[in-house]
Amino acid sequence: MKPGGRNEVLDRAAAVCILTLCFGCLHVIALKSQLFTRLGGLPSSTEFPINYKTLYFDQKFLEPWQPQHQYGSSPDMVPCGDFYKIVTQDFARSGHNCDANIRKSWKAINNVTSTASGLQWLSEEFSLCAPLKSAMDVAIFKNWLQETWVNLAMVDYPYEANFLQPLPPWPIQVVCKYLGFDSTVSDYQLLHGVSQAAKVYYNYTGSSSCLNISQTATGSLGLLGWFYQACTEMVMPMCTDGVQDMFEPEEWNFQAFSDECNAIFGVRPRADWAGIVYGGKDIIAHSNIIFSNGGLDPWSAGGVTYNITDSLISIMIPDGAHHLDLRYSNDNDPPSVRAARAVEVKYFREWINHAPKTPRTAPTP
Ligand SMILES: *[C@@H]1O[C@H](CO)[C@@H](O)[C@H](O)[C@H]1NC(C)=O
Ligand SMILES: *[C@@H]1O[C@H](CO)[C@@H](O)[C@H](O)[C@H]1NC(C)=O
Ligand SMILES: *[C@@H]1O[C@H](CO)[C@@H](O)[C@H](O)[C@H]1NC(C)=O
Ligand SMILES: *[C@@H]1O[C@H](CO)[C@@H](O)[C@H](O)[C@H]1NC(C)=O
Repeated sequence: MKPGGRNEVLDRAAAVCILTLCFGCLHVIALKSQLFTRLGGLPSSTEFPINYKTLYFDQKFLEPWQPQHQYGSSPDMVPCGDFYKIVTQDFARSGHNCDANIRKSWKAINNVTSTASGLQWLSEEFSLCAPLKSAMDVAIFKNWLQETWVNLAMVDYPYEANFLQPLPPWPIQVVCKYLGFDSTVSDYQLLHGVSQAAKVYYNYTGSSSCLNISQTATGSLGLLGWFYQACTEMVMPMCTDGVQDMFEPEEWNFQAFSDECNAIFGVRPRADWAGIVYGGKDIIAHSNIIFSNGGLDPWSAGGVTYNITDSLISIMIPDGAHHLDLRYSNDNDPPSVRAARAVEVKYFREWINHAPKTPRTAPTP
């Protein structure tokens, strides 16, 4: 890692990950790979970028204590639209018309950017580091914006935090203050609100000089290794329909995803690998796992939401964003996360007490 402020943040993030055995947090950072989001997977690609949603993975099967484990390519694992539905619900509950106005914003962007002067206006409105010049730039811009809303859903914490960006308490509520329009506003007014909203995420500290559509988080961490694992071990179909969610409709496209993996790593994902190896929903033979789910966390779409056995425990944290329970305790922690931690500790104690006392000896060759 290079020295510098950005990496310092990452080092801290990494330390937190390791301390809390929270390897799942790697994925949010990993997703910021501009290889994928900006260039559509290939540094020299001339194709439109593959949408973020087609590239979402989690590593549940690799890190079995993480909340989400049921993503897999077979449609009966997790419906592909569930993730983005939860993102949308987070915005819907955080302010009047908030989700509706974001849903409208995509068409407004298309309309406004259909002229050169509109492209320039939008670039200035968002204080972009580099002005949008082409339809490709607009597609990248929309991906970046979508990823911004997704990230906010993951880090909608009840207190100030700086996991992906420095943010105020309940950042989506702050964002939604700029998105409360009724149906009559012009595209320009709407997009002005959207730019103010985006700047809550990108400029909370007031220190940002411009918005860079090549990045959505404060840095990156072990990206390629993570994507390789995702390409070889777990496929997580994602899709949007623009009705149950606030995004532009986009179907899941396994072939496009597979081609991307092939182009970058020379590997193709096996659609059902995770289900075959780990058993999909049939995991009753495992033991001593707590599946905790934050109700605000879009990843809870793939979570285990019921107790399977008395050592395969599901915990719901309705007010929790991404792994809120694994963060340090805070005065503003909602009661649901305090209760979740208490249950977790209870099981840890129980399992440790019942573990065999003598260390296992390695088999002699
Ligand atoms: C598109 O933008 C123009 C102004 O550039 C505006 O007059 C028109 O109403 C917009 N169309 C839609 C569908 O919003
Ligand atoms: C960020 O906020 C500061 C302080 O309000 C402001 O001076 C600056 O122009 C903002 N940057 C962007 C990119 O909007
Ligand atoms: C924008 O982000 C990319 C990727 O992190 C970086 O390479 C580039 O230098 C940044 N541009 C500006 C103007 O900060
Ligand atoms: C699973 O059992 C624990 C108690 O052992 C309980 O706290 C928790 O709410 C249960 N989970 C669900 C999803 O019902």
